[in-house]
Amino acid sequence: MFLAVVGSSALAGMTGGEGLPAEGCNDTIGVGGLLVEHQSAPMGIGVLRPSLSWQLRSAIRGTRQTAYAIRVGRKISDLEDNSNLIWESGKTMSEQSVYVVYGGRPPGSGERLFWQVRVWDNFGHVSPWSAAASWQMGLLKASDWLAKWIEADCGNESCPSASPLFRRVFQCGKVIRSATAFVTAHGLYEAYINGHRVGDLHLTPGWTSYNRRLQYQIYDVTDLIGAGQNAIGLMVGSGWYRSTLGWGKVNRNIYGKELGVLFQMKIEYADGTTEWVISGEGWKSSAGAIRSSEIYDGEVNDARLDKKGWTLASYDDAGWQPVRLVKADNSILTVTYNEGVREHETFTPVRIFSTPDGDRVADFGQNMAGFVRVRVRGRRGDTLTVDHAEVLDKAGNFYNRNYRTARSANSYVLAGDSVEYFEPHFTFQGFRYIRMRVVSGDLKVLDLQAVALYSDMKPSGTFRCSNPLLNQLQQNIQWGQRGNFLDVPTDCPQRDERLGWTGDAQVFAATAAYNMSVYNFFAKWLKDVAADQFANGSMPYVIPHVLDSTSSGSTGWGDAATIIPWQMYLSYGDKRILKDQYGSMRAWVEYMRRNSRNGCWNTGFHIGDWLSYHPEADYDGRSAVTDKYLIAQCFFAYSTQLLVQTAHVLGKPEEEHRYADLLRRIRTAFLREYVSPNGRLSSATQTAYVLALHCDMLPERLRPEAVRRLLENIKSYDGHLTTGFLGTPYLCGVLSRYGHTDAAYRLLLQESYPSWLYPVKQGATTIWERWDGIRPDGTFQDPDMNSFNHYAYGAIGNWMYTTIAGINTDDVVTGYKKIIIRPRPGGGLTSASATLETYYGKISTEWELVNGAIRMKVTIPPNTSATVYVPTTDAHAVRNGGKRERYQVKRIGAGEYRFEAPCKSSVMIDE
Ligand code: BGC
Repeated sequence: MFLAVVGSSALAGMTGGEGLPAEGCNDTIGVGGLLVEHQSAPMGIGVLRPSLSWQLRSAIRGTRQTAYAIRVGRKISDLEDNSNLIWESGKTMSEQSVYVVYGGRPPGSGERLFWQVRVWDNFGHVSPWSAAASWQMGLLKASDWLAKWIEADCGNESCPSASPLFRRVFQCGKVIRSATAFVTAHGLYEAYINGHRVGDLHLTPGWTSYNRRLQYQIYDVTDLIGAGQNAIGLMVGSGWYRSTLGWGKVNRNIYGKELGVLFQMKIEYADGTTEWVISGEGWKSSAGAIRSSEIYDGEVNDARLDKKGWTLASYDDAGWQPVRLVKADNSILTVTYNEGVREHETFTPVRIFSTPDGDRVADFGQNMAGFVRVRVRGRRGDTLTVDHAEVLDKAGNFYNRNYRTARSANSYVLAGDSVEYFEPHFTFQGFRYIRMRVVSGDLKVLDLQAVALYSDMKPSGTFRCSNPLLNQLQQNIQWGQRGNFLDVPTDCPQRDERLGWTGDAQVFAATAAYNMSVYNFFAKWLKDVAADQFANGSMPYVIPHVLDSTSSGSTGWGDAATIIPWQMYLSYGDKRILKDQYGSMRAWVEYMRRNSRNGCWNTGFHIGDWLSYHPEADYDGRSAVTDKYLIAQCFFAYSTQLLVQTAHVLGKPEEEHRYADLLRRIRTAFLREYVSPNGRLSSATQTAYVLALHCDMLPERLRPEAVRRLLENIKSYDGHLTTGFLGTPYLCGVLSRYGHTDAAYRLLLQESYPSWLYPVKQGATTIWERWDGIRPDGTFQDPDMNSFNHYAYGAIGNWMYTTIAGINTDDVVTGYKKIIIRPRPGGGLTSASATLETYYGKISTEWELVNGAIRMKVTIPPNTSATVYVPTTDAHAVRNGGKRERYQVKRIGAGEYRFEAPCKSSVMIDE
């Protein structure tokens, strides 16, 4: 019948023709969105040849870049005058607009550089120079650190767990041109200059494998310093450095017992001279109001001990102690690449009430990670304790038994000054509810504000559709990410865990990259993956590694080492991450190879398909039913496959062949060990079939049978999934790949448990750790393992973006340079839309089913191209896993396009 492309100039784009301007736009081209090493105006670059990226701005269909020119200087005025430049690329004929490598002289330690770019397009337009952007180099050698590490000498104050304060007064005699501070700590620090907080980051210097890599932050503090007397104040808390980490309260002081700081500031005067202010002799320390601060237990703040004005030059520090100078290995100091932790959404209580047990409780309406800021009035010595919880129990009482040994409480002792504010400084909580306990006195809580804290990744994706439950699921997935992307990818933010569980991170990475710009977040964490990986290639369960050495080597968890770099390469298209991680990827595969025999890896302990569902009432779901060695064999293959692909991308043909050979042996061994001649797997679970199909473990001829068995299994559970952490992420993807998107929709839309929508129906605002965290009768699952903010099952988000809305990247030309738009309507949805901010600009897609037709609107950013699959009953059929799906296939360049075609309300499949 028809496939209409709506809009007068549409055919130009549809046929690959270019040049017809879309309505309402002019013919100019601009350039913006400048990034250096994936960051906008980064403060701290550690590589001498950083990569530069930019976006073209043009409303003209089919716009592509044909050439660029970059110039780099030490001052913006040098760029404007086109003089004293330190690098000019000249007009370079190239389509490349991301990751162009800086080709000038190596920048010096601590140097700040400014740059601009202009572009030429395929219509002969040339853009003006972009606005100038900058990057600040880090300190490139350990010897660039002039400062000394200082620790507090508590003297006669007894303060073993209190947060020490450090201060120093210094004089500025001349007019200041700029001041730049470089700061890090053993523990977490907050820095102040003349009473002002330096920067707005929380939990600095972040969490890394502190004994191997310790980050520092760089701040432009020019505006905080003045002529005359100035004061620097630093407050340090235990943080991840010495708080108890890991369950059972046994593991503390993992990185050291003593807290300390390292601070240096470069002041450049207008007369061209330079001065350094550094931590070392002459600094003083004292204990402050924070009496103890622990990641799991929370903070105790006694405002009576507050040293008022301690960050001002005028403060009298006569009673303070001199600091202790200590030596530490500065070669492990590294710049910070990932976005720091910042305050984001704030919430006021939706309800404050008394529970049947008589507790005073506030509900913020959203489960999150962060803290509650309290405004309070009372007498000196009055004490308030704030406890945290994610849920109320069946009776409506405050319930946090699932926090296990984590006290997760902040206590405040009032100073008695009219109105006081409190918030914790060096810890965070996972919560939706708080309980306010007046421990002593008669104080009045005036105001409560919950603050969400997470790494400051730019939001990049949105998804919406006609089903409100799926929209809430999407919200919950995004909140799961916000609550657990707190400098490292954690399993959960509330109980005595909050660790960088590798398995959880790997299953969620693809979804994460749709929701937010996570390249820097994962690139930083992957450096710790490589740093903490054991010499034999085995991978610790958690990164940073804080458990014992036996907690390593599990299938599905260790594969974070291969899966996440590959996923980042797909989502962002930067080969550098593959190059940087190649050694670590290969070491993990080698570890598996060395522990295998005849291609079969069936040794060692494996966590398995964690928390998979099993219908027996007393079953706690932890020991997955799927044979763990069958799973191990699938992931062994999958990681090896990714290594083969990586070797190919990096141009290492020998290794590519060697590992392709290994891959064949692994697959052969799988058939020998786990598959009957007719294609029945030795474990008949959904996870077994899903992994065998996802990891291409079966020859083509056995795949239809495996798919049939998978469908039958789902049917036998009355249309429910039973998969755990390892099977779930691929379940719907496998069904779609083999032509059963309808079955995937049925699973996704299932409202009784186990299912994604069951928690939504129960009022969840985040993703639960378990399918049945709260049972239909209102009782809870085992409190020893029952988090209500665990993102792993949120991995379905990937399928929602790729399959419902249809946004995909080509897997050869990655990072959305080549885009594939392939929505698959179904499940009774009448519309869906998604957007994705890429390094080229925004992709958006919308579809709507109206009167037997599909209407689609697709927008593709400049300098990219897309293949659009318009689902229709009237077009060529495209083969998909043995089934034929009907699409009209169109190739388009940048621009906005509308399509309309006949379409029924489900995936267009020829049965
Ligand atoms: C964590 C998980 C993790 C699992 C593996 C749990 O305690 O919360 O998310 O992957 O342990 O054993």
